Amino acid sequence: MTVDKNPKKIIKMFDEISGYYDKMNNFISLGTHYFIKKTALKNLKIKSGSYVLDLCCGTGDFTKIISKISPKAKVVGLDNSVEMLKLAKLKNPNKVFMQGDCTSLPFKDDFDFITIGFGLRNIENRQKAISEIYKALKNGGKFLHLDFGNHNALSNIFDFIVPFFVKLLGSNPESYKYLLNSKKEYPEPDELIKEFENHGFKLYKRQDFIFGVISYQILQK
Ligand SMILES: C[S@@+](CC[C@H](N)C(=O)[O-])C[C@H]1O[C@@H](n2cnc3c(N)ncnc32)[C@H](O)[C@@H]1O
Repeated sequence: MTVDKNPKKIIKMFDEISGYYDKMNNFISLGTHYFIKKTALKNLKIKSGSYVLDLCCGTGDFTKIISKISPKAKVVGLDNSVEMLKLAKLKNPNKVFMQGDCTSLPFKDDFDFITIGFGLRNIENRQKAISEIYKALKNGGKFLHLDFGNHNALSNIFDFIVPFFVKLLGSNPESYKYLLNSKKEYPEPDELIKEFENHGFKLYKRQDFIFGVISYQILQK
């Protein structure tokens, strides 16, 4: 199975599901996604006044948590879906958001921290995105990657939960078929860490949740 991650299709899909996105996340994770995001971001130890780029910011959860944890950090959220960005701006009225593509970032050695949550999985040219992230970070800067982790038996639970809630919410079933397939096709953390290391990153910290179903890794440039 090869999942179609054509960038235009991906933008269209996220534009379409933007209105359901937060509800769906809360339902399928029973609210745990917020706790996991918060734990990962706390462990990034963002220093006051530092520059943070939140890639694939979606509806702005990471941006909001970062602003709470480190109110003096200068956070920029970036996403290529206009509809997701509108919701991010509603959630974070005083923060800066920009439309952009992770595979072509207009930055070089600019950020102390870069975060990407449930985003890299959707990018067709993942290697280009990783090299752009490396380029945008300052030397010694840290990169947080959070997404689904190991493809174990427990991770298959989403195959049952997701279609149920899609029906309940009246959302487009194709979008969530994509979610399930992209999750299965995405490399497990061990493999991803090797990819990050091939770009020059060094693993700083890794933490797994729910028996490895969700995992984050912090990498240093
Ligand atoms: C699953 S959402 C994650 C949102 C948020 N980070 C969270 O954890 O809730 C993935 C987001 O990545 C964005 N995205 C996908 N490909 C992208 C790309 N190449 N450049 C920028 N954003 C992209 C989508 O528009 C979508 O908002």
